[in-house]
Amino acid sequence: QELQLNLEQIEKGGYDHFMLKEIYEQPSAILDTFRGRLLSNEAIIKMVGVEDNMKKFLAADRIIVVACGTSWHAGLVSEYIFEDLARIPVEVEYASEFRYRNPVITEKDVVIAISQSGETADTLAAIKLAKSKGAFVFGVCNVVGSSIARESDAGAYTHAGPEIGVASTKAFTTQITVLTLMALRLARAKGTISSSEFRHHLIELEMIPAKVEEALKSDGYVQTIADIYKDATNFLYLGRGYNFPVALEGALKLKEISYIHAEGYPAAEMKHGPIALIDEQMPVVVIATKKGHYEKVVSNIQEIKSRKGKIIGIVTKGDKSVKELADHVIEVPETLECLTPLLTTIPLQLLSYHIAVMLDKNVDQPRNLAKSVTVE
Ligand code: AGP
Repeated sequence: QELQLNLEQIEKGGYDHFMLKEIYEQPSAILDTFRGRLLSNEAIIKMVGVEDNMKKFLAADRIIVVACGTSWHAGLVSEYIFEDLARIPVEVEYASEFRYRNPVITEKDVVIAISQSGETADTLAAIKLAKSKGAFVFGVCNVVGSSIARESDAGAYTHAGPEIGVASTKAFTTQITVLTLMALRLARAKGTISSSEFRHHLIELEMIPAKVEEALKSDGYVQTIADIYKDATNFLYLGRGYNFPVALEGALKLKEISYIHAEGYPAAEMKHGPIALIDEQMPVVVIATKKGHYEKVVSNIQEIKSRKGKIIGIVTKGDKSVKELADHVIEVPETLECLTPLLTTIPLQLLSYHIAVMLDKNVDQPRNLAKSVTVE
């Protein structure tokens, strides 16, 4: 028993929980995802699974992403980036809905299945269905040799290393990293991005691990905020564009480990319903980074403020406008708009972690949840 405990402590590498360790591993995990793929000196991206199947990607009428939970959120981020950079239409589907919907799939579709474990039953069934209709299936998995990795026609591993905490953290950011590399590679091949823009993206991407490191420095302040709001019974998370899926992910993290009800919404949807929830008891986490509809998000924040909601802003370093309105602001470094999810996610992971710890919840193994859902 004692030996078991010691082993676990060693595995946690000095952190109190696997989740925290995995949050802090993100800079090195993203670097591992880049390794051998992002060659910025030569201004190339090399991904064997993409190169070998370039014809299929270039001929694709559309990309259909199938995934569940956090992996589905990574898929939503990829929708913005594939469409924005590579101009390929993307549909993002919950694997569980897709497999039972009698979806229209043809040989001209590329299906990307995203899964940390590579064992999620619904995602596995969705790709079997897609394959039976002749679609080309590309897997983005973390666990090497997993069922989804084996069942896919080709793929790219995220190389995040083992993720033990049930709440997915480094799997999410490395999934986004792989999908961003893919989108950039395809954009270059299609000529939808100029060589100078491509180079610029590579340079910015290369700086992400150091910027994640910097974002992690907000930890102490996030803990202070967690202490103020830990007893709230509801949270709202808002974001727009690339950061709308991050809002969903922030809400999911809070729900699963602290058991606090949380909703993620596109900020502009607020006025179509959720705004009715806002009063002085409601903490609203708003992702309001400088690029991407900044002014519009600021006006959303004004609407929350006039209804006395408590505002926690996730802002770009040096931001002034949100600071004047929000109750708290957490800064992240500046980057390209399409890369902001890799940074804005960090304080949201930390916020859910600290609230769950303060509420004395089982952070690494929350009730009712399993690391991989192998039943439907
Ligand atoms: C994430 O924090 C969750 N534990 C869960 O939503 C998870 O992302 C989902 O079950 C999908 O798992 P997969 O990536 O292993 O397929």
